[in-house]
Amino acid sequence: MPLPRIVRTVKGLRSTVQKWRSAGESVALVPTMGALHDGHMTLVKLAKRKADRTVVSIFVNPTQFAPTEDLSRYPRDEAGDAAKLGSAGADLIWAPSVEEMYRDGFATTIVPKGAALPLEGEFRPHHFAGVATVCAKLFSQSMADVAIFGEKDYQQLCVIRQVVCDLDLPVRIVAAPTSRDRDGLARSSRNAYLTAQERAIAPALNRALHGIAAIAAKGGLVNKAIDVATHDLLHAGFRKVDYLAVCDAETLGSFQTGSGRPGRVLGAAWLGSTRLIDNIAI
Ligand code: PAF
Repeated sequence: MPLPRIVRTVKGLRSTVQKWRSAGESVALVPTMGALHDGHMTLVKLAKRKADRTVVSIFVNPTQFAPTEDLSRYPRDEAGDAAKLGSAGADLIWAPSVEEMYRDGFATTIVPKGAALPLEGEFRPHHFAGVATVCAKLFSQSMADVAIFGEKDYQQLCVIRQVVCDLDLPVRIVAAPTSRDRDGLARSSRNAYLTAQERAIAPALNRALHGIAAIAAKGGLVNKAIDVATHDLLHAGFRKVDYLAVCDAETLGSFQTGSGRPGRVLGAAWLGSTRLIDNIAI
C-alpha cells in the first residue's frame, strides 16, 4: 500500500477534502496523537467502513496536558505511524504543527461542563477544555461527516458527544470498542512507558473493574467493592488509585441498579510514573 499523503496546512487539507466532497465522497476522521498501535488501526478500519475517505490526524495537542504531565516525553514516531496507516489504507494524514493549529493570537477555548466535570475532570481540570477545543477544530478543518473515537477514553467520548450536540456540530460521532491485549490490558500509547515488571501488573486494573461491575450488576454494595478493588490494586503493585467509579454510561452521573439505564465502571491508577485508565460496561 502507498504511504498516505501527509498534509500540514489547513489550506492544503481543505483543498483535498473539498475535492473529495465535490466528487460526492464522504469523509471520516480518526483523531489521534500518533504513536499508533493496533487499537488505532481498528479505528481506521471502522472509519473505512463508515465513509469513502479516511483522514487520520496526528497532533500531540499541548493544551490538553497540564504543565506536570508527559507532553515532552509523549511518544512520537511519524514515519512509523505513516507506514502503519499506509497498510491500513488511510487516505491522508493531517499533521499540523502547533503553530498551524494555534496561530498567533489564538484566544478561543471551549470549556465543557456536564460529563467533563467528574473523574478525569477532577484530576485533570483543564484537560477536557483542551480536548474539546482541538476536536472542534479538527472537525471543522477536516469537514468530516463522521469521527471515530475509541471507548478506551470513555469520558472523552461522552464529552465529545456532548460538545457536538450542544454546539450543533455537523459531524456524527461513532464509538469503537476498546482494543485489548490478550491479558485484558487496554491498548494505549502510554503502555510504552511501562517496564516489563509493570506491564505484568497492569492487567490488574481491568480485573478490578470487572470485580466492581459484577457487584454493581447484582445491585450489591458498590462502595465496598470499590474499597476491595482499591486494596487489590495497591497490593498488586499500583502506586496510587485516582478513582474507581460506577457511573451512568451517558451522563457519567450516579448509577442506580435496576433503573434500566446503562452503567459504566471507570478507573484511573498509577503504575510507577505511568497513569493508566480503563472502563467497562456493566
Ligand atoms: O484521544 C486522543 O488521542 C486525544 O485526546 C485526541 C482526541 C486526539 C485530541 O487531542
